Amino acid sequence: MKAVIVAAGYGTRFLPITKSLPKEMMPLYDTPILEYIVKELSDAGVEEILIVISKCKKMIKQYFTRNIHLEKFLIERNKMDLMEQVTKQQNYAKISFAYQKKIAGFQDAINCAKKFVGKDNFILCTGDDVFVNENGDNCALQMIKEYNKTKTPLIITKTVDESELDKYGVIKYAKNGENNIESIVEKPKTDFPSNDIVVGRYFLPAKIFEYIKQNNTARINGELNFTECLNMLAKNEGLNAVRLQGTSFDTGDKKGYAKAFAYFTK
Ligand code: G1P
Repeated sequence: MKAVIVAAGYGTRFLPITKSLPKEMMPLYDTPILEYIVKELSDAGVEEILIVISKCKKMIKQYFTRNIHLEKFLIERNKMDLMEQVTKQQNYAKISFAYQKKIAGFQDAINCAKKFVGKDNFILCTGDDVFVNENGDNCALQMIKEYNKTKTPLIITKTVDESELDKYGVIKYAKNGENNIESIVEKPKTDFPSNDIVVGRYFLPAKIFEYIKQNNTARINGELNFTECLNMLAKNEGLNAVRLQGTSFDTGDKKGYAKAFAYFTK
């Protein structure tokens, strides 16, 4: 199984810190946000992960690369407990990187994964949504099991308060089935089709890249709107909304980050 994590944007919702620190590298206690996502995917059995970054986010690549000097230093001082902390990143799925040449939004960043994905299904993750489920399967495993049952592409959803809906993709359900999606409305201001949002987790077929190719005009805030590709998928292949088991934190948002930090520090 392959997964793609998109971590290329400027992180403008989190300025000023994101002027130099990638938001995905911000700590939840002592571990960067991105490592929680990589660990979750690896624990679910994902074998290969592509992280889409931009030139100004080389720090991410550095974090997932061995630091031989630091390891040598810790061995010389017999700090083996700390060695575990700096080498465990090598035990996760095989990680590779793709660079988005120009920061041009979510759809363009996903398109950088086309070659990596090839003809396979893949899990797509935003780089700032962190998931926990203390009493059961993690979100990635939930998605894999669900797909194996239904053989239908899916997105993970949760219900939020109406005041939150304008920050997310909001689901319009088809009338013929409980979790069958008719379409997704990206960041609606009014006329909310439901209170269920896209939380940044998608199980997609490689066909999505054909829809990305077709979608070269639909824009939102100047950027190509990837949600239109999901709508084409929903119409032609079907797309299910699967309710999240557990909790998710939108750490790209200052309040969401504070909640996640408190959770992982307890
Ligand atoms: C993206 C998607 C949106 C989804 C959100 C989840 O928005 O476009 O549909 O609800 O991720 O985090 P962004 O956060 O990039 O604005």
